Amino acid sequence: MLELRCTVRNCGRPLESKSTAGGRRGLGCDGGHRFDQAKEGYWNLTQPQDKKSLNPGDNRDAVLARHRWLQRGHSVSLAQSIRDWVTGSGEQPTVLDLGCGDGSFGPLVFPDQPQGYCGIDLSKPAIKLASRHWPAATWVLANADRGLPVMDASVDFVMSLFGRRPVSEIKRVLTPSGCCIVAVPAEDDLIELREVVQSRGDRRSRVDAIVEEMQEFGLRCVERKQWRASVEIGQEEIEDALAMTYRARRRSEKSRIASIDRSRVTLSADLMRFTLG
Ligand SMILES: C[S@@+](CC[C@H](N)C(=O)[O-])C[C@H]1O[C@@H](n2cnc3c(N)ncnc32)[C@H](O)[C@@H]1O
Ligand SMILES: [Zn+2]
Repeated sequence: MLELRCTVRNCGRPLESKSTAGGRRGLGCDGGHRFDQAKEGYWNLTQPQDKKSLNPGDNRDAVLARHRWLQRGHSVSLAQSIRDWVTGSGEQPTVLDLGCGDGSFGPLVFPDQPQGYCGIDLSKPAIKLASRHWPAATWVLANADRGLPVMDASVDFVMSLFGRRPVSEIKRVLTPSGCCIVAVPAEDDLIELREVVQSRGDRRSRVDAIVEEMQEFGLRCVERKQWRASVEIGQEEIEDALAMTYRARRRSEKSRIASIDRSRVTLSADLMRFTLG
């Protein structure tokens, strides 16, 4: 299992399994800090300051929109493309999935390997869905922007799939032979919808900026590829696709969404693999 560490300010000691007198499962450190397991099975390692975070993670509507989207299977071939980078990595690699959302990618990318897998998200609705979906894995409610709750050099794979990228922390937690896999929307992802809603769809690749940012911290891009698919979707799926990626704020944008009842759309993501040194 992944070696979790205490999130109390200035502590950072290893967390170990401790049971309370009532038989409830808990985690604790040698500094006397304790964390109980939520009834859904996840660990709440947030600290009081995380509740005031300007970025509290995705709200319920966005989480449910992405959950419905992923349940329709639109990202299964994307997961397979990521899986091609991790197969042959030993029996139980340690994995940290940053901003894991509803947890759909974990069992698709690391099937039969839940013991080493840990998903982190700051959204309670997301981590609850994840814990129910794959209970054998470890799920943690925590703020990935405030220092990752895992020990130094203990993670074989860090995944950031459309999620957070705290680069210096990613470097700290990776094992010397570990790697970090990053996925971001490619420039034409959902372009057909964005063109209607925003009048013009911005086409902007994030790859060069991410490669440069990671390189500054000593993480070298050793492989990259693009995943693409084209799907025909109806009104409800269109609304979900937009709700999980791009929130239409103005009334004119909302009515433009309502006016599209079917569309063939491009799904695309840029995938990058980074190693230390
Ligand atoms: C676009 S979603 C991607 C979810 C998942 N990786 C997937 O591809 O389905 C981004 C996720 O990052 C989470 N998130 C945002 N800020 C966070 C933070 N500071 N710490 C941890 N997770 C965060 C959100 O709650 C959301 O679930
Ligand atoms: Zn502690």
